[in-house]
Amino acid sequence: MSKITTPRGTQDILPPESELWQYLENIIRNVATDFCFKEIRTPIIEHSELFQRGVGTETDIVTKEMYTFEDKGGRLLTLRPEGTAPVARAFIQHNLEGSGLPQKLYYIGPMFRYERPQAGRYRQHHQFGFEVLGGKEPGLDVEIINIAITIFKRIGVSQFKVLLNSIGCSRCRPSYLENLKSYLRPLFPQLCSDCQRRMETNPMRVLDCKNPGCQSILERAPSPLSWLCGECQEHFQQVQNLLKKMNIPFEITPRLVRGLDYYTRTVFEVISPELGAQNSLCGGGRYDNLIEAIGGSPTPGVGFAGGMERTLLILKLKGIRPPSQMGVFVAYQEEAFEKALDILRQLRENGIPSEMLFEPKSLSSQLKIANRKGFPFVLILKAEELGSETLTLKNMESGEQRTLSYSQLLATFKEKA
Ligand code: HAM
Repeated sequence: MSKITTPRGTQDILPPESELWQYLENIIRNVATDFCFKEIRTPIIEHSELFQRGVGTETDIVTKEMYTFEDKGGRLLTLRPEGTAPVARAFIQHNLEGSGLPQKLYYIGPMFRYERPQAGRYRQHHQFGFEVLGGKEPGLDVEIINIAITIFKRIGVSQFKVLLNSIGCSRCRPSYLENLKSYLRPLFPQLCSDCQRRMETNPMRVLDCKNPGCQSILERAPSPLSWLCGECQEHFQQVQNLLKKMNIPFEITPRLVRGLDYYTRTVFEVISPELGAQNSLCGGGRYDNLIEAIGGSPTPGVGFAGGMERTLLILKLKGIRPPSQMGVFVAYQEEAFEKALDILRQLRENGIPSEMLFEPKSLSSQLKIANRKGFPFVLILKAEELGSETLTLKNMESGEQRTLSYSQLLATFKEKA
């Protein structure tokens, strides 16, 4: 019979890689705690309408990439392609406004996009996201950017760039779009077929087309920055001033527009030169109209989400590994089985990761197994030492053996933990 494997664009996360995932997740949760963000968990499935109204019917995500199906009750549901619209939906549904604004929420979880898989791009990928709902101050935009770079710095990634732009608001954007269309219209035949379509449906997306032919046309295209209204200009200026005050370097990138329609004013991406084609570690921005677009009262918001797989790819490239666990393998001769069980219990009660075999094997085979499993220490219980109050601890790296009492053993591991 043929083997059943993971669907294209998805992957199993196996040990020891799962330890790297936990390491990254812990850092993200610690940063969230330091910035006083609370976790939100939303369902993997949502009504398709949420993403149509939230992310935008003309975006690639909604037109081409959603996993949408009808359930047995005839409801149209979608595996979430992103986390911001679900958080905004939860904010409205549970009246989180009533618990005080701004709400500062974060999440870590899988997202689904029917994209062409390649290095750093998957159909099931995982994001860590931070959202501030109910605050319009530029300081919050900077707080969000600061969270992103704090995470990357804490995991030891220092080579990254913050790309920054402003795409205006519902007051100034229409005139910009008209201007952009007038610039593009005579060049229509030279645009790629995607951009020809986007020119009518979503003209701003033409700006970040990767097609080399379109790129050269776009070099002289009008920038959203030249069309910002006074308030958007002021907001953008304050974001830049605060970033400078906080010593966060950034590059103004007038053609950065992002692939989701809910953005207003600030948009940003953090890219890594080490990642190749899929170089965006995280992206985000302000979304002052999203909550209203999906049925809430007008409430501004700002946030970002980062890709777990891409961040982990960098960790792997740089050889960054989680600190190894101080585990103990208990090796014993058959006569010492009960003593081994008792020691195992005590080690675990004291929070020291430990394991032993439950089938009879020679001490030398047990040591080999402990070595293969990467245990730094092995406790050796010999039959002839059964009556004694001491234990033998072997350091697997140096080969050194020490004789210890129970309490010395526990103290040794507490010290190392
Ligand atoms: P996004 O840029 O579409 O934004 O995705 C966020 C991050 O997820 C990207 O920067 C990238 O690292 C990762 N990512 C996206 N698609 C894939 C994929 N197919 N495979 C692997 N990694 C991927 C959003 O989703 C917005 N919700 C971000 C946001 C939050 N804006 C405001 N708040």
